[in-house]
Amino acid sequence: MRPKRTWSQRRRLSDPIEEHSAFDDTESTIALAGHPIHAMLITYPIALAFLTLFADGMFWWTGDAFWPRMAVWTAGIAFVMGVLAGIAGTVELLIVPGIRIRAPSWTHFILACTLLSVLGVNWGFRLPDPQAAVLPVGILISALGVGLTTVTGWHGGKLVFDYQIGTQRDHGS
Ligand code: HEM
Repeated sequence: MRPKRTWSQRRRLSDPIEEHSAFDDTESTIALAGHPIHAMLITYPIALAFLTLFADGMFWWTGDAFWPRMAVWTAGIAFVMGVLAGIAGTVELLIVPGIRIRAPSWTHFILACTLLSVLGVNWGFRLPDPQAAVLPVGILISALGVGLTTVTGWHGGKLVFDYQIGTQRDHGS
């Protein structure tokens, strides 16, 4: 028969974060002077996804052909910058042990890939005829893009603020 474990032994065994040294290794490596490049790049898809929905709404309201022309650019740049941000994030995810080992990092990856697919569709769908694409399908894709951007961005913030992913442990002097 196995000897009975004491309460402190059981508590220690049930806390893998303390046991596993890789959990502490969360510092960003794809960074400029310690500032994660991913965090710099994601501002573009976030802002431009919202701007695309705004432009679609303005076209619906005013009928002015300026707005669909603008939306095709904002949708395109949102997608391209989102992919660049995704590449920086994915390299970080794969090479930093404390990021790779955490399940929430992979949840963020799946959310982000879904978002990037929607941003890509939103751009490609508009290219042949930006004006005809807006109502009703374009604006619905934009709304979906904004919803997914909000969830993905909020979840990315959780990685940083709840798990200290990408943050510097040693601040130096
Ligand atoms: C495709 C793959 C992606 C991966 C693997 C990924 C991974 C990560 C990682 C590892 C972090 C922690 C900070 C860092 O180490 O840089 C993070 C933070 C974050 N991510 Fe992503 N990400 C991806 C795409 C996106 C996209 C498309 C968005 C756009 C909404 C996004 C929004 C955020 C936000 C807002 C943060 C918090 C940044 C901060 O507060 O400093 N991520 N992501």
